Amino acid sequence: MIKTSFPSTPAINIINHLMFLWFMKCVKVPKKKAESVKKKLIESNNFNFEYIPLVENDYVYFPIKFKTDLPVVEKEFKKIEKKPTSLKEVLKNKVPEDLIPKGFEVVGDIAIIEIPEEIKNYESLIGKTLLSLHKNIKVVAKKASHYEGQFRTRKLKIIAGENRKETIHKENNVRLKLNPETCYFSPRLSTERRRIIDLIQPNEIILVMFSGVGPYPITIAKNTQAKEIIGVEINPDAHKYAEENLKLNKVKNVKLYNGDVNEVVPKLNKKFDRILMPLPKTAEEFLPLALEVSHTGTIIHMYDFLHEKDIPDKVIEKVKNVIPKAKILNIVKCGQYSPGKFRVCIDFSV
Ligand SMILES: C[S@@+](CC[C@H](N)C(=O)[O-])C[C@H]1O[C@@H](n2cnc3c(N)ncnc32)[C@H](O)[C@@H]1O
Repeated sequence: MIKTSFPSTPAINIINHLMFLWFMKCVKVPKKKAESVKKKLIESNNFNFEYIPLVENDYVYFPIKFKTDLPVVEKEFKKIEKKPTSLKEVLKNKVPEDLIPKGFEVVGDIAIIEIPEEIKNYESLIGKTLLSLHKNIKVVAKKASHYEGQFRTRKLKIIAGENRKETIHKENNVRLKLNPETCYFSPRLSTERRRIIDLIQPNEIILVMFSGVGPYPITIAKNTQAKEIIGVEINPDAHKYAEENLKLNKVKNVKLYNGDVNEVVPKLNKKFDRILMPLPKTAEEFLPLALEVSHTGTIIHMYDFLHEKDIPDKVIEKVKNVIPKAKILNIVKCGQYSPGKFRVCIDFSV
């Protein structure tokens, strides 16, 4: 079949179709007039966007859709290939359409995707399709559990690509090596980390409780003039990566401890200008500890998960119950946790 939308020379078209070239009617315009003619063709809806305009010597050839008063010739054009860009476009006739995953998370070169149980048998196809659509992805892993336990980790099952779970993630001028199965890490929080670094003043001494593989301490060290940053993390694997990430990012003013904040922080014998508490479900339990290592004016950022209807009252109440004199500075939504439930950060001073 000849797929021109305007009369052309059929026999030649058949041959050229195999070469992905198409004979098309077009207007021949001197280069100098090309822009104004293109504009007119677009305005009159006669510019054929399906083909790539041709430039030869001093002329430009614009493929057209129908007759025009301008000088018309026939030329060979390459068709613009519209490649599918989403899982849905590629898989719509192969996998039940309403169950095709709409999104996925990318940690370094690993795509992490949720696959409904009903389409479990298609997981390899889904994984391979993702690899073919995104050249920067080398591993596709499906979520095999929810975040669980004290380390807030989740099981991952590789469904396509290389057989590894370690990767290097880049954000905010920082490189973070990690295994997203053995350590908590969320690329979705990079904007929130950016927000925090914009608040930091030169020479601050900062405590990051629950520091994971080091995203907050290292992002702060690389992007601010903070004097000293201390991170405390209980998961030995996350701590190991965090130490490695200090070297990877060549930061010198971060000190990391592996252990329970309840044991490590009191022994630091320090007061902090700023304290970060990125442990949404239970951070409030550590408020007395944060208060212990604060001075007048210390700023605390505490994270929480809240239903829309409870924002901001519930998180203010949690803070005021422990620290009645707290001065609330800001409350921001920094991501959705589940339908109707949000990750919230409350900034306050003591
Ligand atoms: C939600 S993750 C945040 C990690 C990191 N700040 C980030 O943004 O990627 C919470 C972290 O707190 C750690 N954690 C939980 N309880 C802890 C405790 N009592 N002392 C130190 N770390 C703890 C977990 O192992 C986990 O890595």
